[in-house]
Amino acid sequence: MIQYTVFDSEEDLAREFAAQVAAIFRDKPTGVLGTATGSSPLEVYRVLGRLVEIGAVSLKEVKTFQLDEYVGLPEGHSQSYRRFIEENLVALTDLRSYNVNVPNPHLVGTPGVDTLDEAAAAYDAAIKDAGGVDFQILGIGSDGHIAFNEPGTPLDSRTHVANLAEQTIIDNARFFGGDRSQVPTRCITQGLGTIMEARVIGLIALGENKAQAVRDMISGPVTPDCPASVLQNHPNVRVYLDKGAASLL
Ligand code: GLP
Repeated sequence: MIQYTVFDSEEDLAREFAAQVAAIFRDKPTGVLGTATGSSPLEVYRVLGRLVEIGAVSLKEVKTFQLDEYVGLPEGHSQSYRRFIEENLVALTDLRSYNVNVPNPHLVGTPGVDTLDEAAAAYDAAIKDAGGVDFQILGIGSDGHIAFNEPGTPLDSRTHVANLAEQTIIDNARFFGGDRSQVPTRCITQGLGTIMEARVIGLIALGENKAQAVRDMISGPVTPDCPASVLQNHPNVRVYLDKGAASLL
């Protein structure tokens, strides 16, 4: 059974989540943090910033590996996940840009990388070379996706090129001025098998529109129909919920 906690407010949730992250990297200052984008982890990143400010933890020697990245945005685009991590984590903490890793579609055409598939495979290998992820931050899509592993993705998948589900394009249009046609349709994403290798995982879900996905993840069968359900097979995962996201449990 996946352990979960329901919080009264996003602030309480973020405080406890960030404290867990800080404890891990106090013990292992050269560890590897798995980062997530989306609105769910934003408050956690702000609290982490405060913890760094007061010296409760340092991310100076920490490496990060982002879960996923859109394919098709120009380099440096405001909605690219590379930009997101720069603006929402690097800018708030002492994490160094050169320690930030994000799948990079723009590597295609550089020496040794001829295709997006090769860029994805190289990213998977880089996570292993760095020693694997010590703590992985996750959000969840309203269709049960984690990273960009949409329903139907094999549970043992590795980092790969994928298409966004229609529901995800609709959900993410809010970041593109509400215009669905601006949302990229492809991405590079860590696979479910890749994510499952993280030693500790913390997943955040906020709001009622996540309630069904949260219920399927925690109490449904383990099935590619709800990619997040694979977490039931992970020995060290904790789910952080607000009341809306927990409303169907
Ligand atoms: C995006 C990301 C996911 C994220 C999810 C939820 O599509 N690829 O990694 O967890 O959607 O986003 P939000 O937290 O904004 O609801």
